[in-house]
Formats: sequence, C-alpha cells, structure tokens
Amino acid sequence: MSTLLTPRLLSAISMLLACTAIGADLPKAVLKPAESTVQRQKERQKERQKERQKERQKERQKERSAAAERGYRVLVDKALLTSDFSQEVFDRLWECWPEELRSQAKRGTEKKRREMAFQRYGLTARPDDPRKPLQYVVDKDGNWTMNCFSCHGGTVYGQSYAGAPNNRFALQTLTEEVRKTKFKMGKPLSRMDVGSLVIPLGTTNGTTNAVVFGMGLMSQRDEKLNLVAAAPRKLIHHDMDAPAWWNFHKKPNIYIDGFAEKGHRGLMQFMMIPENGRDFFIKHEDDFRDVYAYLSSLRPPEFPGEIDTELAERGRGIFQQNCAECHGTYGHTPTYPNRRIPINDVGTDPVRLTALGVEGRRKYSRSWFAHGDDSEPQTTIIDPDGYVAPPLDGIWASAPYLHNGSVPTLWHLLNPTQRPTVWRPVSQQLDSELIGLTIRIEEKTPLMELDAATRRSYFDTRRFGKSNAGHDYPEELTKNQRKAVLEFLKTL
Ligand code: HEC
Ligand code: HEC
Repeated sequence: MSTLLTPRLLSAISMLLACTAIGADLPKAVLKPAESTVQRQKERQKERQKERQKERQKERQKERSAAAERGYRVLVDKALLTSDFSQEVFDRLWECWPEELRSQAKRGTEKKRREMAFQRYGLTARPDDPRKPLQYVVDKDGNWTMNCFSCHGGTVYGQSYAGAPNNRFALQTLTEEVRKTKFKMGKPLSRMDVGSLVIPLGTTNGTTNAVVFGMGLMSQRDEKLNLVAAAPRKLIHHDMDAPAWWNFHKKPNIYIDGFAEKGHRGLMQFMMIPENGRDFFIKHEDDFRDVYAYLSSLRPPEFPGEIDTELAERGRGIFQQNCAECHGTYGHTPTYPNRRIPINDVGTDPVRLTALGVEGRRKYSRSWFAHGDDSEPQTTIIDPDGYVAPPLDGIWASAPYLHNGSVPTLWHLLNPTQRPTVWRPVSQQLDSELIGLTIRIEEKTPLMELDAATRRSYFDTRRFGKSNAGHDYPEELTKNQRKAVLEFLKTL
C-alpha cells in the first residue's frame, strides 16, 4: 500500500509546498492532512530505519554467538600444543598413587579409577560431553593436550563451569606422576615433563606459575615471534590464581596490573612452545578471534542460595560509599572504572608486580601479541605501579581471593586481621556462611606427608609470593556493615 501511494502523495505534497512557498492562501483544512501525511511518512521511515537497525543488531548478535560457539570448540577440540600424554598413560597413573588410594583404585572399575584421577588432579567432565575432560583436548587416538581450561575452566562448588578459575588444578602433581608412569612404561617424555624439571609449575593446588612460563618462553623469541637463541633470563617464580573469564567483557586492559590492552593476539601467548613457529600464530589468528568472542560472551553464575534482600540493599549503600570508587557499580547501568591502585596503597603481595618487570613488558609491547594488526600497536603500560581493582561480578563463585589466591573466603577478605596463615580446602562445598572455600585452618604444611598432592593442598601464606596481607579497606567498616556488604556481594 504505502509504496503505491508514495509517488502520488509526494507530488501532492510538493504541490502544496510550492503553493505555500509562493504565499497562496490555502484553507487550513487542505493543508493539515498533507502535513500530517508528511509527518506520518517520516515516522514510518524512522520506524523502518529502527527495524533495520534492530535486524542488523540481531544479525551481529547472531554472528557473535556463532563466533563464540566456534571459539569454545577451538579450545576443546583443537590441540594447539604438542600432546602431553596418551589415554593409556592417564589410565595407569593410579599405579603410582600412595597406598590406600592405590588399592582403592585397583579394586575399582576403570570408570571409578578415571573419576578418582579427575578428582586428584582437579579435572572436570565437559558439560557437553562428560566422558571427556574440559581441561584437555583428547583426539581420536587418545592423545591428551592441555588447553586454556586447565587453569580457566573449573567448577563452581562442584558444578562444572567453563570460565570459572580452576581452583583445584594440580598441574605439578599430574606432571610428576605422568613422568613416573612414562618411565615405567618406557614412553618418551613430553616438553612439559622435561620443562617441569627446570620451572616449577605450581606449589599449591589451584594456582600456577603461569606468568613465568610465558616470560621464559617469550625470552626465546624475537618481537615477530621467530625463535632465537638467547641465554635464559633469571626468572622470579611465583604462583597465581587465574582470574574468572566472565569479567573479560568489562575489562579494557587485562592481567592484575592491567598492563596489556586486550586483543585476540595477546590470547595466543599460551601457545609459545618452540614447536609452534611464527607461521603457526598467523595461521591461527582467526581461531583466536573466535576465542576472543567466546571469552567476551561469558557471564557469571547466579548465587544459588538465599539472599536477605533487605540486608543486601543496605550493603549496596555501604559498598557504594566505600568500594565503588575502585570496583565500580552494579545493577541496570553498571560502571567499571578500571582503576590501578599503587602497590603501597593496596598493600597486597608485590611479587607479581616486580616479577614481570619493565623489560618483560617492554618486550611484550613491541611484540606481535601487542599489535591489533600488523600496523597498529596497542597500548601497553610498561611500568604499572600497582594492581587494578577487578570487577566483582560473580565474586562469590571465584574463591579463593586476591591475585595469588591467598584468602579463602569473602568473609576473610572483609576481615583482614582474621585471615588464616595456613589453610586447606576440605570439601568442594560452598561455605555458605563465610562465602568461599570450605577450609580447615592448619598450623603448618606437613612436610613429612608423603603424598605430594596432599602437601600441595596446603596454602601457606608465609611463603614467597603468597602473602595474604593488604587490601585493608574493609577495616573502616563496622562488623554490621561488613555483614551487609557480604550479603550484597552475593547478589553480584
Ligand atoms: C597454566 C595456567 C594457565 C593457562 C593454561 C592459561 N592461563 Fe590465562 N591466566 C592464567 C593466570 C595465572 C592469569 C593471571 C595473570 C596475571 O594477572 O598476571 C591468566 C590471565 C588470563 C587472562 C586475563 C584475564 C583478566 O581478567 O585479566 C586471559 C584473558 C587469559 N588468561 C586467557 C587465556 C587463554 C585464552 C588461554 C589459552 C590459550 C590461557 N589463558 C591459558 C593462567 C593460565
Ligand atoms: C582504593 C581502591 C579499593 C577500594 C576502596 C576497595 N578495593 Fe577491593 N580491591 C582493590 C584492588 C586493587 C584489588 C586487587 C588486589 C589483589 O588482587 O592483589 C581488590 C580486590 C578485591 C577483592 C578480591 C577480588 C578477587 O577476584 O580476588 C574483593 C572481593 C574486593 N576487593 C572487595 C572490596 C570491597 C567489598 C571493598 C569495600 C569495602 C573494596 N574492595 C574496596 C582495590 C580497592
């Protein structure tokens, strides 16, 4: 209809307009409908424009979710490193477990043994394919290859959740037991098996020396990522707790010191093993555009328990006044200030800040990773003076707290003088009162304990890089105010 009418209407309108232009005295009754027709047409045009915009938005959204889906598949299906071990090796790991556990495994079925192994090493079943681990690509020949989820895909209190930090990953123990098993079976060692003899992988379960692996590997490359012979750099080993991926979409810069602008290339650092030359990185750029879309699509889980909404509302006000300047606001129109706080002010463990160093960051800034494309450098902050306050969405689900994972619950974070010096998780259940890991406070790590996996479940905050000091901001609050803030944090 409307298209049929358009030319005729248009000529009528232009005639009318011409009449008014020459000052013809037209009766209002004639002028009015014409004017409103113009208006109606304009409105319709606007509506159509809006619809087109909406459609385009929908298209883009569809495109983004398709890319995100492809990104997930890249992570779980594509082996981007050399393989770590075979299914056969994995299925025999139990043979080197300490007694009792070993007998239990021996008596069990193969399925039971696999469950025990998943439990021991902090692996979880894939939500979409429970026979496979989320943390490793397993190809059709049964070769296992570590993927990003080994550190970034964990469980939220027993429920598998991709993008939650893996706070149980026992990489050091797994690697040591793989090595032992391979020796026994006469199988060749992988790069990880050998590398871990030189670089510690992680001294406490759930934390890794990941930043230092990256630095060590980067020191063997030039800025274009060609491999070069270089004397190994002196490295400051320290463990970190991986951050949740569901805040990636909020952050312009990543890592605890916020030194790197985010981009798809930066996400590829994990693949710097010598077998992957410069060509490998260029070939996989599109895959990592999809991984970037996947990370951007993630959102936190909702708190499953009860929330006292009145108390939480009170907490919101207190948070607004005491915490929001650094951590931002939440709700319908969230804001995120991306603020870096000088290390002397935040007062948390400084090792991570100094370990990466100006040289390390400068090298990154000049490298292929820090260039959105081949011409355009990203912003890299060479000399950050502290740590960036992270967004707190889903914070109840990403225990332990602080960048080194030294504080087991939100209650302990809010009560700095009450933080335990040595602690260990004793179950996978949420501590629903303190909000975080269910722990036991211990005197010290039992160094005589023969099972390394048990020893590594102790978090000793007196060790290098593991301090639980600092972030004393909640000290300003009364006991009741802290209670309200804790309730509010559950709603994020
Ligand atoms: C061995 C453990 C480990 C593996 C494997 C790993 N990461 Fe990480 N990742 C970490 C740790 C630890 C940090 C924190 C580093 C820091 O803040 O300095 C981190 C930080 C990040 C961040 C920054 C998040 C933020 O909010 O600041 C992104 C993004 C990221 N990793 C993506 C990846 C991708 C993609 C892969 C796979 C290609 C991967 N990681 C593999 C341990 C790991
Ligand atoms: C002056 C800035 C500042 C203020 C004020 C502040 N924080 Fe923080 N917050 C930080 C920084 C920086 C970190 C990261 C420290 C680290 O990991 O070493 C942090 C970390 C945290 C974490 C741990 C995040 C994680 O993923 O492990 C929580 C929870 C938190 N803050 C809650 C609060 C609450 C609640 C308040 C108010 C009572 C508050 N903060 C006030 C700067 C601030």
